[in-house]
Amino acid sequence: MARRTTLVDIGRMVAQGTPLVMVTAYDFPSARLAEEAGVDLILVGDSIGTTVFGEADTLGVTLDDMIRHAGVVVHATTRPLIVGDLPFMTYQESAEQALRSAGRLMQEARVQAVKLEGGRRSAEQIRRLVEAGMPVMGHIGFTPQSVHELGGFRVQGRGSAADALMEDALAVEEAGAFALVLEMVPGPLARAVTERLAIPTIGIGAGAHTNGQVLVFHDLVGLTLGRQPRFARRFADAAGVMRDGLRAYAAEVRSGTYPGPGETFLDDDSKDADGATAGHGEN
Ligand code: KIV
Repeated sequence: MARRTTLVDIGRMVAQGTPLVMVTAYDFPSARLAEEAGVDLILVGDSIGTTVFGEADTLGVTLDDMIRHAGVVVHATTRPLIVGDLPFMTYQESAEQALRSAGRLMQEARVQAVKLEGGRRSAEQIRRLVEAGMPVMGHIGFTPQSVHELGGFRVQGRGSAADALMEDALAVEEAGAFALVLEMVPGPLARAVTERLAIPTIGIGAGAHTNGQVLVFHDLVGLTLGRQPRFARRFADAAGVMRDGLRAYAAEVRSGTYPGPGETFLDDDSKDADGATAGHGEN
């Protein structure tokens, strides 16, 4: 019987050299489609702030936003391991704040793990959550919640900054995280971190030599309407398909060809086909 992926499964896949496939999702259809495609992990990322809410960065996302959307993603799926992101200022204050926030995300949304950003500066928080039995995924390199501190969307760990990034990776592992996201890190450094750590690394803009990859749903399916990051390959043109559908709808309403007889109810329901009166909400 198909069941949800566990940390033990993840460990086994990494030991066998099977790359981990992770994608973000934020709602019922994106989560269902990701599950149908066979991804191993879904991250309900605070990238929802930019991809879905259309904001310039992730800083405005709240814990309640994450709980609502992560709950939907958990409800929509039965197999991938679901990781919920802790948003800005829901863990930075103290380990106790992190415990309360992660506790809500796990208890109310029922995610199987949480993710938070930061290396050495977040080690105490990671340790506290792990002590309480919560699986934690770390995230270093470019960390979007620190976009202003980092001076924009920039590659991290180049040149003399490589040693500090390695220290951050070791601190996250030592604090007990089960996996580490490396975002916008030079490929050779991501490879060195992956070789040095016992926990799996999951790259995004970090080259091919990590234990897995993660991409943002909207980037990979072609729903990002603004600038696409250079590392994010567009595997489909969802925006093009949607645009065509919307234009066709508008044209047919204007020409009077939609709705047609088959899309119109009559007074007498004996002519309704099975399910003709069904509405939405039948997932
Ligand atoms: O929020 C997010 O989607 C993320 C990924 C970019 C790793 O943190």
